[in-house]
Parts: sequence; structure tokens; C-alpha cells
Amino acid sequence: MKKVLILNGPNLNMLGKRPKEHYGSKTLQDIENLLLNQNQGMFALEFYQSNYEGDLVTKIQNSLDYFAILLNPGAYTHTSIAIRDALELFSGFKIEVHLSSVDEREAFRQMNFIRDICHKTFSGKQEQSYLEALQYLKNLV
Ligand code: DQA
Repeated sequence: MKKVLILNGPNLNMLGKRPKEHYGSKTLQDIENLLLNQNQGMFALEFYQSNYEGDLVTKIQNSLDYFAILLNPGAYTHTSIAIRDALELFSGFKIEVHLSSVDEREAFRQMNFIRDICHKTFSGKQEQSYLEALQYLKNLV
């Protein structure tokens, strides 16, 4: 079975408590359950969240043989060359996901170190962004 890593960065473990107008009211566990439900056993989904940049880098390095990485790096989207460099090592499908409309928010969120090396971006639809990203992967196979 093809392996797909669902990788979430800092503060995404706090979903449900973060500003609802941007992030909705679902917890990360809720979103993982929705993804499992939508997956219908198609992929071997693996979920990983960390608040630490180096952990996210190591997780990507240890997943180089996966079919795809569905990635919400949180604030590291806008700062992390290290995560970008790790993603460059990954030759499978790289899908950028955001709950909020990062492109329509503060100027500091317009900087994006991963967009140009990802195959596709889903953003601005809260938990639906994740579900659309998984559907995109399902449609590829
Ligand atoms: C986010 C957007 C980021 O700018 C922010 O730092 C996050 C979450 C999103 O999913 O909308 O933590 O990646």
C-alpha cells in the first residue's frame, strides 16, 4: 500500500483553541479522523505533528520512500529553509496545505519557502483544505 505522510508543524496541535475565523473549530484529531474516513483504506496514512523544526526535517528525511507528503508547516512555511531543503530531497508528491487563506493575510505570511517546490497547494478552506488535498492524491492513482 502506498504510504502518505500527513505532516503538521507548530501550534497545529492547538487547533480547536486557535482563532476560529482562520482555523475553524476542528481539533487536529478531528481532522485526522476526517482524513481516515475519506481515505477509505486507499493509502497507509501516517500522522505526525511537531512544534520543532528539526523534528519535521528528520521526519521528512525518514520518509523519502513515501508516495506523498501532505504538509502544513504552520509558521515554518514562512521561515524555514531547512524544511524546504529536506522537501527537496523528497521525490514523491509534495502537497502544501493551510487551513487559512495565507495569501490574503498579513504581509509576513506572504513569504513562502515551500510553495514553488510543491506540486499543489490547498488553502483557505479550514479542514476542507486537507480533505481536498487527499482527494487530489486519490485522483492521481
Ligand atoms: C497555517 C498558516 C500559518 O501562517 C500559521 O502560522 C499557522 C497555520 C494555516 O494552516 O493556515 O500556524 O499554516
